[in-house]
Amino acid sequence: MKIFAHRGSSGTHPENTLAAFQAAADLPITGVEVDVHLTKDGEMVVIHDEEINRTTNGRGYVKDMTLAQLKKYDCGSWFSEEWSGERIPTLEEVFDIFAETDHILNIELKSDIFPYDSLMSQVLELAEKKGLTDRILLSSFNHEDIQKACRETSVPAAILTFGVYVDVYDYARIIGTKRLHVTLPSAFRKMTTDALRKGAIVYAYTVNDLQYAKELKQIGIHGIFTDYPEFMMKELE
Ligand code: G3P
Ligand code: CA
Repeated sequence: MKIFAHRGSSGTHPENTLAAFQAAADLPITGVEVDVHLTKDGEMVVIHDEEINRTTNGRGYVKDMTLAQLKKYDCGSWFSEEWSGERIPTLEEVFDIFAETDHILNIELKSDIFPYDSLMSQVLELAEKKGLTDRILLSSFNHEDIQKACRETSVPAAILTFGVYVDVYDYARIIGTKRLHVTLPSAFRKMTTDALRKGAIVYAYTVNDLQYAKELKQIGIHGIFTDYPEFMMKELE
């Protein structure tokens, strides 16, 4: 079962920071999951929420601020004073950490609340420039974007689901993918076991409990996103 560091090694470092991604890059795991938004001036930045309120010392929407404005805020202190120098990274800064590794980069397009029309093409353009195209895996709760990725590119792309979907594999096939990224509780439901039987590639999020991880492995889940990749890597060996 493949292990992805969710928002970097976010159980031990502040999520979506260069420190969290460097910690993940230092591990022999499959890959890392990265949340991407667009700033007011069209730059790709790595942060989970639409607003900066939870993970920085600032307030407001990412989409309403320029990169220069966002860079003024501290995104490490909320987690621990040890990380007080951290700044919201650009996607390029994160890509550069993985330039010499073999990790898969699961880029979650955070285009489900605000559409960020150009986000996917910008991600793929930067990946191409950095020579990372064959290590990119896209995902999104915005299934229109995933459909577009399946139609217009050869980059693997997964639909993110939250909750229970009847016949989710058949739905995914209409979108154009076999890849499902499902929540931990949904991973055990009939919708997922049916999808696995039909040939879906299923990754589950966010799996921080070892017993759940072992049970997911047992039922044939292909990968997990975890905040504790080092722990999972050692325990699931
Ligand atoms: O990509 C898996 C997971 O990260 C999706 O949910 O809210 O943690 O971005 P969220
Ligand atoms: Ca995510």
